[in-house]
Amino acid sequence: MYIYKAAVVGGGTMGAEIAQAISFSGLPVLIKDIDQSKVDFGLKVARNIYQRRVDKGKMTQDEMESKMSLITGVTDYEMFKDVDVVIEAVPEQLELKQRIFKELDEVLPETAILCSNTSSLSISALGSVTKRPHKVIGMHFFYPAHVMKLIEVIPGLDTSEETVGDITSFSESLRKLPVRVNECAGFLVNRILMPYLNEAAFCLEEGTTSAAEIDHAMVEAGMPMGPFTLVDNLGFDVCREVVNILLDSYGPRMQPASIWKRLTDMGRLGVKSGAGFYLYGDRAGQEDPELKQVIADLSQEAPKSEGFSANRLMYPLINEAIRCIEENVCTAADVDLSVIAGLGFPQDRGGILHYADEVGLPNVLAELERLTGIYGERFWPSPLLKRKVAAGHTGKEAGKGFFEYATA
Ligand SMILES: NC(=O)c1ccc[n+]([C@@H]2O[C@H](COP(=O)([O-])OP(=O)(O)OC[C@H]3O[C@@H](n4cnc5c(N)ncnc54)[C@H](O)[C@@H]3O)[C@@H](O)[C@H]2O)c1
Repeated sequence: MYIYKAAVVGGGTMGAEIAQAISFSGLPVLIKDIDQSKVDFGLKVARNIYQRRVDKGKMTQDEMESKMSLITGVTDYEMFKDVDVVIEAVPEQLELKQRIFKELDEVLPETAILCSNTSSLSISALGSVTKRPHKVIGMHFFYPAHVMKLIEVIPGLDTSEETVGDITSFSESLRKLPVRVNECAGFLVNRILMPYLNEAAFCLEEGTTSAAEIDHAMVEAGMPMGPFTLVDNLGFDVCREVVNILLDSYGPRMQPASIWKRLTDMGRLGVKSGAGFYLYGDRAGQEDPELKQVIADLSQEAPKSEGFSANRLMYPLINEAIRCIEENVCTAADVDLSVIAGLGFPQDRGGILHYADEVGLPNVLAELERLTGIYGERFWPSPLLKRKVAAGHTGKEAGKGFFEYATA
């Protein structure tokens, strides 16, 4: 399918950046929001992204104006009659999104594809309220969408292969890296990221290692930023939505650490509220007796532990990724591409499953079993890992693990 015109519904944090990315590829795009002030906000975000390119000498003022002329802000569906693809980016509420999908289904041409940028809601549930579930699909961008290359392309139960192909090519035309992720709660990146972030929170609750020390250690281990800096930037409210959906689907292994709720109840939502795991604004860098007290309280109840280690955070992430392969959510190559392009995992390690192959799968299994002995079932090794080890697919040294390697 050739796409001549696109639209984004919801011109907030994500929608505005998505519209900019589309216009940058040379395609006309509408930004629809509820009123003119919201539309103007979206247009301003897009213009600011272009302006920074102009300031850096990466484009001329004229080129910027020509790209901006491809973006049209609207507050109704009048101009949607000839739109080929829509990306919905309104707040994360199923009923709101379903209402919008119904409205779009009425106004769009029969051939148009309806995408959602949802982080956690069911694509199948969105498709079910339309007369074209075969043309409904997840197109999950990562923040900031004008920088991050990864797009999770998520077919629902009724999505056609043709739609998957069309949105994969469309993503490539935006100079992004599309990865097919078969529908599951949290999709791929958020699903594997949460056990990692949660384990960092369990370590903090024990009271022996500070957030800054853990963040520093994970950056040393190669992550682009520490887990607490990341959560503060994502926002506790956004993370909570994802955590609830993961807990609901996967059960006890996704049980969130208590500190999330304690800080959320205090109105500490991260950077946007001036405090999360760190303090921001006027209080940045100051002593934080409130957080110290929360940790002191929680450490009283903390179970037996051997303390923080980078492995304690990385291994649940690897284990959850293996579960995704086992469930046919995606391929091993796509896991590695996603952690590099979506999480900033160091490219020189080739991704987390290449890293696991390098370490040796029997070692990964033994460490997970050891950690299970201390912390319980959230470290329980995935059955596929056990099968691989039992079958001699033990990693790079053996010539096969999650990938194949040339042996000497
Ligand atoms: N923020 C992130 O980091 C991030 C990352 C990936 C995916 N997402 C997902 O993207 C979606 C949007 O998130 P966001 O952070 O951009 O939210 P946001 O609150 O910044 O923006 C939402 C926009 O939708 C508009 N809106 C609300 N109702 C509308 C309606 N009926 N019609 C048209 N516009 C309407 C709002 O006015 C607002 O401008 C969510 O599903 C979220 O889960 C967010």
